[in-house]
Amino acid sequence: HVAAKRHTPRSLAALETPVVALTAYTTPMAKLLDPHCDLLLVGDSLGMVVYGMDSTLGVSTDMMIAHGQAVVRGSQQACVAIDLPFGTYQQSPQQAFQTSAGIMARTGAGCVKLEGGVEMAETIHFLTQRGIPVIGHIGLKPQAVHTHGGFRTVGRGDEAEQIMQDAQAVAEAGAFAIVIESTMEPVARAISEAVPVLTIGIGASPACGGQVLVGEDMLGLFSDFTPRFVKRFGNLGAEVDKAAAAYAKAVRSREFPGPEQCVGMPKG
Ligand code: KIV
Ligand code: NA
Repeated sequence: HVAAKRHTPRSLAALETPVVALTAYTTPMAKLLDPHCDLLLVGDSLGMVVYGMDSTLGVSTDMMIAHGQAVVRGSQQACVAIDLPFGTYQQSPQQAFQTSAGIMARTGAGCVKLEGGVEMAETIHFLTQRGIPVIGHIGLKPQAVHTHGGFRTVGRGDEAEQIMQDAQAVAEAGAFAIVIESTMEPVARAISEAVPVLTIGIGASPACGGQVLVGEDMLGLFSDFTPRFVKRFGNLGAEVDKAAAAYAKAVRSREFPGPEQCVGMPKG
């Protein structure tokens, strides 16, 4: 048995069907999602989804490496992208290179993703010139939640032109793909038409070259925060609740464990 070849930044960009991407943070979830996805993103959203933080600002490089390793182990065919966390790349291209190189070397991921537009173009150029494929991330940038003034849809009025310039700068700097988050549809559409690299939308536009959602949001496993762009394709939260209730009942009534789960238990 020969394992399917893993997607690379180059093979993703060459896909003729929309790129299917989801976030994953753990090995078991990566195993379940990998057969269906072209790209698995180890997003820094894990700070909120897995660790209960109220923003992504507290996520560390060590957390991204641990979860990145878990997702690479659990996947075979999707390209794995790992987010650079807040404060580990914005200071300088050199800082970004050091963080990215550590993440790539220790996880085996195929690329990194970082937030920012015009202001990050120099850094994206620096990384891509030195062997690190980069996905950009524009529109709503959750690491900039405090300067955005909350999690909201961006791209109204004057913001539209700025976001278009961000897209152009990130593409020219050498990013092979750009995530566009929580952005007015016509703006995301215009970017997807104007910019010659793969766009991946989340709360953006069906005209993007691909779509991404947080796995737990899509599965109905995370409901603390549900922006309008989340669509639930499953309701696993309710399944977990049902299973935990059945387990609790079986333990309290001494139905579990039964003879099948015990060794040497006298029958009857
Ligand atoms: O951290 C994340 O999950 C992301 C995606 C939603 C694009 O950046
Ligand atoms: Na992210």
